[in-house]
Amino acid sequence: MPIKKITVFIVFVILVCSCSQNSHNVIEPQIIPTPKNQSVTQGYFLLNNATGVQFDDAFKVSANFLKAYIENGSQIKLTENNTISFIKDDTLTEEAYVLEILPKNITIKAKTDQGAFYAVQSLRQLLPSAFENGSFKEEEVAIQCMTIEDEPRFQYRGMHLDVARHMVSVDFIKKYIDALAMLKMNTFHWHLTDDQGWRIEIKKYPKLQEIAAFREQTLIGHFSNQPTTYDGKRYGGYYTQEEIKEVVAYALKQHITVIPEIEMPGHAQAAIAAYPELGCSGDSIKVAQTWGVFDDIFCAGKENTFTFLKGVLDEVVELFPSKFIHIGGDEAPKTHWKNCQVCQKRIKEEGLKDEHELQSYFIQRIEKHLNSKGRQIIGWDEILEGGLAPNATVMSWRGTKGAVEAAKQHHNVIMTPTSHCYFDYYQSTNPNEPLAIGGYLPLEKVYSFNPIPKELNHDEAQYVLGVQGNLWTEYIPNAEHVEYMIFPRILAMSEVGWSLPENKNYDNFVSRVETFNKRLDALDVNYANHLYEVEGELITENGLSFYTLKTLTKDKTIRYTTDESQPNLQSQVYEKPIPFNKDMVIKAAVFNEENQLGSIFTETFNYHKAVGKTITITPESSKVYSGSGAQGLINGISGSDSRYGDKEWLGFWGDEVEITIDLGEEMEINSIETRFYNGQGQWIYAPGELEINLDKSVLIVIVNEENMKDLIVNINAPVPTQETSRYIHIKIPSYGIIPEGNQGSGNKAWTFIDEIIVN
Ligand code: ACM
Ligand code: ZN
Repeated sequence: MPIKKITVFIVFVILVCSCSQNSHNVIEPQIIPTPKNQSVTQGYFLLNNATGVQFDDAFKVSANFLKAYIENGSQIKLTENNTISFIKDDTLTEEAYVLEILPKNITIKAKTDQGAFYAVQSLRQLLPSAFENGSFKEEEVAIQCMTIEDEPRFQYRGMHLDVARHMVSVDFIKKYIDALAMLKMNTFHWHLTDDQGWRIEIKKYPKLQEIAAFREQTLIGHFSNQPTTYDGKRYGGYYTQEEIKEVVAYALKQHITVIPEIEMPGHAQAAIAAYPELGCSGDSIKVAQTWGVFDDIFCAGKENTFTFLKGVLDEVVELFPSKFIHIGGDEAPKTHWKNCQVCQKRIKEEGLKDEHELQSYFIQRIEKHLNSKGRQIIGWDEILEGGLAPNATVMSWRGTKGAVEAAKQHHNVIMTPTSHCYFDYYQSTNPNEPLAIGGYLPLEKVYSFNPIPKELNHDEAQYVLGVQGNLWTEYIPNAEHVEYMIFPRILAMSEVGWSLPENKNYDNFVSRVETFNKRLDALDVNYANHLYEVEGELITENGLSFYTLKTLTKDKTIRYTTDESQPNLQSQVYEKPIPFNKDMVIKAAVFNEENQLGSIFTETFNYHKAVGKTITITPESSKVYSGSGAQGLINGISGSDSRYGDKEWLGFWGDEVEITIDLGEEMEINSIETRFYNGQGQWIYAPGELEINLDKSVLIVIVNEENMKDLIVNINAPVPTQETSRYIHIKIPSYGIIPEGNQGSGNKAWTFIDEIIVN
């Protein structure tokens, strides 16, 4: 075929010419997660119609992914040659690769197809983002010459998705898997069953499909809201076994293992609604319509329960080839087990000490069954209580204590503490954020996570298999919102799991995220963009208060207004702290030369007599809910109506709180106002009363039952006779113990207070 040869030769000559003219824009490498070693070298490789991909069967998945990515992403049609070649290198570790980009060829070396797949993902990020949606229209693209030697820090790099509370389509599950693969994650933890819905078809138990898969209605708003309201709409569905097989096969093509989670013995209300005989009482119950932890759990006394679960798991293992099956194990209140004769009989017969040992017995029986099928169990860290099943892997979520305990017992662990891995938490303090479960987990905190707990020595640390981000979907009703919650935090998590700590740098990461967002735009991913968000802080200097504004990314301008108008390109540029000496509203946003980039930040200031004065509080607030410290109670800014975890609210757990404000001199006082958070579903209660002492009089404020129904209890205490006082002393008793029948009953209630307004 001499004609073909000549054609190639001509193209080659053109390449050399264009190289020497240096006329191509090459993309600066900004790979996420950052590789172990990368060094940029001279020149660039031109990808065009003269390029070919050569591979043998060992690299089928990764090479075909690359071919499809190039041909679907652009007009380029690959030929049959070896300009890009896949080479087997058995000296590398399982997931490692070497990617060498030279002016005339690209080589990908790996021991496994999986390693090569990660080389392809790196190469992908060296191509323009237009390749992601097929909109690259040029004839060729220049790729920066470089060498990357890369391998992961951890062998387990996962993302979880709860489809029980809210379900997403199979297509979206695939898109979710695509995202994991792009970020070199290798595990999708699919949370398939919970109190609010059973989402996996089990042919042996049809009522799981007929009854457990649907709830009559769903709670509206946050579950700590009072009073509770429901939407009145039936909700549900399930994934058929055919759909599940399709997802598992799809994931396999991107080297992702799908681990199913079947919750037991707790979070089983949906299953018990379908088969009431699986509960202790046998009473008929409904699939849960609200969120939280429920007392109806599988009975551990009845053989029936184990028959059922084995029947379920036998179908599950047929669908999922994963080494691990997640069996839940978290949040199983023992209320019913304590009063159930069959459970108590089991405790006696098996010589168990208590209900915790009964849970351990339960999990061990399930473990034995799954081990007999060649599978291993993973459970949430509660499976430590009452004794760990012999071969179990622990997923540590309530902090890292569970991981430490398990690793010291020589059990494998996966790190997923709420503090760094719960993507259902708020990611910004912006009051416009969509409703979330609570908490606060910004991007930087995810990025800062070190998965090896400091309590573990070198040998014990080997039991840490890796990390996982979790997404619980109580407050996440659809796919767009799922994307909003996981992006960009998943980018940070990918780097936590893959990259070496010494290669991590937050500022550098942020600049890579800014670039990566263009790729997400092309992929039509609804990521949250807080890179261009404004953050404010009140500072006090020599008795004067100022408000400062900042944003995360460099080379951007903050513009603001103080007259409640929306900031625009003509608004004042923020250059120095803004004096706060009167009521005002600051609205600010980040701009480049042409556009507003982020959302508008708003802060409302209420200038009152106590602003910037001296305040003491005993005891100190909880470390976790310390807002902006004591001074935050008299900074002129009120805490948000929905977010007790913000920078304003102060939380105290069970203590009487005493607050003293020193106004510096006697002043006329007409009223004192304050606010208590009253999110009872989250163990937060306004106090029944409070006592306000002025220099000459005492006011007692009683909070009546009607007020106790509100999420925010507003206190307004007029001072009856105009009087002067220098000191204001407020005593706030705790609400006390949470009453029976409420979330957290029997525990001490929290007290949350913000802004004491003195007029
Ligand atoms: C969990 O968040 N209940 C594991
Ligand atoms: Zn029972």
